[in-house]
Amino acid sequence: MKLGVDYLERPLLAGGVNFPVSLAPMVGLTHVAVRAMVRRYMPADATTFWPTEMLSSWRLPREEMGSTPETLRDEAESGLVPQILGNEEEPIRLSVEKLIGWGAVGIDINMGCPVSKALKHNYGVALMGDKNYAAEVVRMTVRSARVPVSVKLRAGLQNDLEYLIEFVKGLEEAGASWITLHPRVGHMKRRGAADWAQIRQVREKIKIPVVGNGDVQNLEDVFAMLEQTGCDAVMVGRALVARPWLLWQVGERLGFSPPAQFEGQAPSTAEEEGREYGRAALFLLSELERHFSFEEGAKRFRFYVRMTMGWLEFGQHLFSLVSRAKSYKDLSEALLEFFSAEQRMSPRTQLRE
Ligand SMILES: Cc1cc2nc3c(=O)[nH]c(=O)nc-3n(C[C@H](O)[C@H](O)[C@H](O)COP(=O)(O)O)c2cc1C
Repeated sequence: MKLGVDYLERPLLAGGVNFPVSLAPMVGLTHVAVRAMVRRYMPADATTFWPTEMLSSWRLPREEMGSTPETLRDEAESGLVPQILGNEEEPIRLSVEKLIGWGAVGIDINMGCPVSKALKHNYGVALMGDKNYAAEVVRMTVRSARVPVSVKLRAGLQNDLEYLIEFVKGLEEAGASWITLHPRVGHMKRRGAADWAQIRQVREKIKIPVVGNGDVQNLEDVFAMLEQTGCDAVMVGRALVARPWLLWQVGERLGFSPPAQFEGQAPSTAEEEGREYGRAALFLLSELERHFSFEEGAKRFRFYVRMTMGWLEFGQHLFSLVSRAKSYKDLSEALLEFFSAEQRMSPRTQLRE
């Protein structure tokens, strides 16, 4: 099986990454506490890159890094590749400078955000409407950054494969070190199925690494995406927050060591995964409490449960329990109560938008 071979031949972040799975940038989810929960399941001898939620290049220059929930990081974190929204040179330059000072080892540019504000002000997926300007945004970022620059994009504004290929070639020429493709068009938001065939087609047409993303739910899906698309790595969003031990499962299959905090085999049955969800959720809660006030932490915890409950047999019940909590203690009691009974986690669910 050729898995991982291409990936190691064309490493992202020159030597800094040896593992073909990474977490996706997600507003409200890819914060310091969720990164800690996911990182805990990284095989001890594996390294990958770690995103942030999308950060505004207009706001960053005025902010003190670490003073907002989105820019909080742990001392121990490495491999951070924060994501920026932007389309103007000066704010991008100032943001990149700040992010590098903060520990960024790469910068990712968002060309996928489909909200109406992004479309109106020409950032996010709107940049996909003008391939020359999008390439210019990459050039301006590369000029400011002493670190690799990547782009996370969608299939575009409409289904037009020829245009998508011209578009990514433009990004490659402009100096992008790799791209991540989430193959849905802008107006699909997160509805419908991601079209993995486009990842293969793009992968065949450019030389820089291509990270595939979209609808990966479990271990089989990770390897199916690698095999079907030939992509260099897989980025997982919702499912990696729901089952962070997916990293351990992938590592096990590729011959990596278990994560430092664990021994034995990765959870794999519905019952083992259900139990591990409870443990991961308790760990997440302790990280949220370490970093955030109850109001901020509870908001994030409820959002995490809402986005991941679909994989749990009685997830809706867990959500109603955590919705009633008035303190961190209530939240952990709700978890202990729910997970005192055996819970089952399914390999697949209807993905929530
Ligand atoms: C709650 C949420 C917030 C998201 N925020 C971002 C973001 O800030 N930047 C980005 O590039 N994509 C964002 N996305 C898209 C994800 O990165 C990813 O492309 C998408 O969820 C498909 O991957 P998945 O099926 O593995 O979740 C977000 C997705 C979700 C569910």
